[in-house]
Amino acid sequence: MKVVMIGTGYVGLVSGACFADFGHEVTCIDKDAQKIEKLRNGEIPFFEPGLENLVASNIRWNRLSFDADPTKAVRNADAVFIAVGTPTRSDDGSADLSYVEGAAREIAGMIDAFTVVVNKSTVPVGTGDKVEALMRNERPDGDFAVVSNPEFLREGSAIYDFKHPDRVIVGTDNEQAMEVMRELYRPLYLNETPILFTKRRTAELAKYAANAFLATKITFINEIADLCEETGADVQQVAHAIGMDGRIGRKFLHAGPGFGGSCFPKDTLALAKTANQYGTPMEIVEAVVRANEQRKLRMAEKVIKACGGSIAGMRLAVLGLTFKQNTDDMRDAPSLTIIPALQRAGAKITAYDPQGMAAAKNLLQDVVYADDPFAAIDGADALVVVTEWDQFRALDLSRIKKALKKPVIIDLRNIYSPEEMATHGFHYVSIGRPTINVKA
Ligand code: UGA
Repeated sequence: MKVVMIGTGYVGLVSGACFADFGHEVTCIDKDAQKIEKLRNGEIPFFEPGLENLVASNIRWNRLSFDADPTKAVRNADAVFIAVGTPTRSDDGSADLSYVEGAAREIAGMIDAFTVVVNKSTVPVGTGDKVEALMRNERPDGDFAVVSNPEFLREGSAIYDFKHPDRVIVGTDNEQAMEVMRELYRPLYLNETPILFTKRRTAELAKYAANAFLATKITFINEIADLCEETGADVQQVAHAIGMDGRIGRKFLHAGPGFGGSCFPKDTLALAKTANQYGTPMEIVEAVVRANEQRKLRMAEKVIKACGGSIAGMRLAVLGLTFKQNTDDMRDAPSLTIIPALQRAGAKITAYDPQGMAAAKNLLQDVVYADDPFAAIDGADALVVVTEWDQFRALDLSRIKKALKKPVIIDLRNIYSPEEMATHGFHYVSIGRPTINVKA
C-alpha cells in the first residue's frame, strides 16, 4: 500500500519506518526542508534505539522516502497519516490542534482517488469530526474517509511497541476505510494482534483514557511509596504483591520521582480540560496532575533531608536527566524541576546523562556537564540518581565511595539494593523502601 506520514516527530518517523519495514511504500513529509535533507541521508533527529538502522535499510530498499512537499505522495496515497504535534496550549491546558488542522486542510486540496486520512496524533474527542468538516469544506467533492488510529508506542522501545502492540484501535464506520486499515496492519494481524474497530470518538477517547490510567497507576504507587517510607514497608514488594493480581497487573507500578515525558503530563491535562468542557469533571485525573507536580518538588526535599537538612554550599552529582532511559527527550523530565530546586537550596550541580545533555543545556542553568558518570561523581558531596539508565546500574560501588566526599546516595529510581548499599557503607535513600543502617 502507498502510505504518507505527515510529520517526522516520534510517532510519525517510527510509524513510517515500521510501515515501510512491513513492505508498504511510505513517504514521510515534514515542512522543515533541512530536516528532510538530513533524513534522506539517514540522520535521525532524536535518539531511539534501532531507528537509524531501520530507516537506513528501508531507504535502501526504496520503501521509505522523505519529502518537504506532500503533493505528489498524497495524490497517489491509499492512506495519509497525520502525525503532527498537539502541544499543550499555554493559556488553558487544552491540546493545540493548529498543526492537525493545518495538515488536514493541506491534504484536502491534494486528494485524488479514495484516500483514508488517518489521525495518529493524540487529539481530543471530537477532533475527527472537526477534521472531516474542514476537509469537506475545502473539498466538497473529495473522496476520503477520516479515521482515528491512536498510537501506543513508548519512547525507548518504540519499534518493538509498534511491531508488537497489545492491540490496534481503528475508529471509523466506513467499510472501505476499514479494508485499507486491515491491509495496512495485515502483518500484525497474522501475529494475531487484535484490531479493534470502534466509533471514531471512542478511539480518540481510548487513547487519553489509556495514558491517564497509566499515569494514575504510577501516581498511585508513588503515594503508596510515601506511606511505605513512613511505615517501614517496602513499595517494591507491595507492587509485586498487588501486581500478581491479574485485575491489577504488574506493569507501570515502579515508584519513582513522578512521571514526565511528552505524553502523560500533556494528555492528563488535556483530558481533565475536555472533561470539564463537557461538564463531567474527572477528579481522579485532576488529582494525578496535582500530585505528580508536587512529587517532583518533594524529591528535592528528599535529597536535602538525606544530605542532613541543608545542601547550601554542597556539590551534588546528578546521574540521569532525561524523563526516562533510552531517550534523549527532556520534555517534562523530573530533573527539570528537581535540579533548579536543589540549586535554589544552595547546591552546585554536576550532571551526566548518556543522551540528554545537549537538550538539557538549553533548559537548565548553571549545571556543569560531565563526560562520564565518574567525572560527575568525583569530589561531590552526594550522588542523586534521577533517571534509571542501565549503565548506572552496575557502576563500581567501591569506586563511587572513594570518589564521593561523603558516602551518600539518593536513588530516585530504586536501581540499587538497600542491603548491598549498606554493606558498602553508603547512607542510601531510595523510594518507598526502608533505609538500612550502614554496617560498621
Ligand atoms: C507513554 C505511553 O506509555 C505510551 O503507550 C504512549 O503511546 C505514549 O505515552 C504516547 O502517548 O505517545 P512514553 O511517554 O514514551 O509512553 O513513556 P512511558 O514508558 O510510558 O513513561 C512515562 C513516564 O512514566 C516516565 O517518566 C517514566 O519514568 C514514568 N514511569 C513509567 C514510572 O515512573 N513508573 C512506571 O512504572 C512506568
